[in-house]
Amino acid sequence: MVSRVIPVDPFDLVIFGSTGDLAQRKILPALFRRFCAGQWPQDVQIIGAARAGYDRDTFHQVVTESLQIHAPRHCKDTNALEVFLQRVDYVSLDALSEEGWDRLAGKLTKDRVRAFYFSVGPRLFGPLAERIKAHDLATEKTRIVVEKPFGHNLESARVLNATLAAHFSEGQIYRIDHYLGKETVQNLMAVRFGNMLFEPLWNSQYVDHIQITVAESVGIDGREEYYERAGAMRDMVQNHLMQLLCLIAMEPPAKFDPDAVRDEKLKVIRALDPVEPHHIVRGQFEGGPNGPSYRETVGNPRSTTESYVALRTHVSNWRWAGTPFYLRTGKRLVARSSVINVMFKDAPHSIFGADAGRHANVLSIRLQPNEGITLKVTIKEPGQGGMRLVDVPLDMSFAEALGPENQDPPDAYERLVMDVIRGNQTLFMRGDEVEAAWAWTDPIIAGWQARGDVPKPYETGSTGPGDAELLMKRDGRRWQGINP
Ligand code: BG6
Repeated sequence: MVSRVIPVDPFDLVIFGSTGDLAQRKILPALFRRFCAGQWPQDVQIIGAARAGYDRDTFHQVVTESLQIHAPRHCKDTNALEVFLQRVDYVSLDALSEEGWDRLAGKLTKDRVRAFYFSVGPRLFGPLAERIKAHDLATEKTRIVVEKPFGHNLESARVLNATLAAHFSEGQIYRIDHYLGKETVQNLMAVRFGNMLFEPLWNSQYVDHIQITVAESVGIDGREEYYERAGAMRDMVQNHLMQLLCLIAMEPPAKFDPDAVRDEKLKVIRALDPVEPHHIVRGQFEGGPNGPSYRETVGNPRSTTESYVALRTHVSNWRWAGTPFYLRTGKRLVARSSVINVMFKDAPHSIFGADAGRHANVLSIRLQPNEGITLKVTIKEPGQGGMRLVDVPLDMSFAEALGPENQDPPDAYERLVMDVIRGNQTLFMRGDEVEAAWAWTDPIIAGWQARGDVPKPYETGSTGPGDAELLMKRDGRRWQGINP
């Protein structure tokens, strides 16, 4: 099945922080892949802006090197690379002074979509927004894109929202959570709201509990300073896991429209119960044969920052009353594996007797790797006397089901950057959503600080601290395996 490419209108995209890691690793490769897919018209303009005193040619060299690493397959087409680079320009510019802004103004095209991507730390959001306005660069068709972390807590998120709101309307602000750009995350909505099969069962009457696991095998190398201040709760739970939880738990929006979807997600966040201290486990990885410990990595022998979190929460509404949501995420775990498991209840009565054992359906939505969906169903064990039951997977790998061209699904940034150009905010976080997520997260972190909580050590390459298993065991449940 060949996916359809819907071309976008001509646009100017300015990337502030264009020499930084995110721009080089994600944004520019995403733009190049979309260019190769034929999604742009001829006269698009991408302008890298950063403090480095590069000229256009030097910037082209930097971009080429990044693309060769991060989009190697597409770079084989040297003609495509050359034509792409003709559309890429560079301005040396300082966010904190007037230096370079007139040069930028001179390059922008009138009367077309103009997107400013703030691929910089949040302390520069305000100065950039102010200068865009002061130099009269903002038009009606202007959008700004901001990255996480969107604040460090509720208070700082409010300040950021207010700073941006002083210069731009909410409809112009695109707050990225790149998890929302992942193909399977969008598929979650397609599966839930495009099929009759699941929705009638999608509630506490039929669902025993939900498990959301985002396990990473990587550590925090190269981001020590940021991570030491953030920890897993701020880095992953407040945003990525929260968004997954929302998509699983939300009511069907009336339509697939930005505010309809975001209104429903916001209701979920506001309905989340506070997390009791005995329903949350923090962990920190220890050193071993597979590498140094967290503390060695950050160079702080007393660090109490968590690199792992497992918790239990509830969505207090009619649909989910009594169904716990278990979330866990961590660094340096046994595998990279992000999966949502919807664990259905046992059949109310077993006609097959005690020998048949207990069986329950599990719907697994694999976000990465091997994107796909598996439904575990119970059947008769073949060839056995009597009625012995066994669970087998009904498995749908998207790559297999949709053909070889879907082996390599578009990166989240490809979808999100094109949505900015199209002016579609459905997969971006609204200001009130971000604030509500912090309002739930802040008391958890404050509780740790007040109690002087120290994270539990876990082995590098393991599934996390033993206490995370206990969290489940106490409830008579257990985590599904972390499988790559
Ligand atoms: C980022 C976090 O937002 O997401 C990182 O800051 C994390 O710590 C990353 O590694 C995970 O993203 P992905 O797409 O690799 O699952």
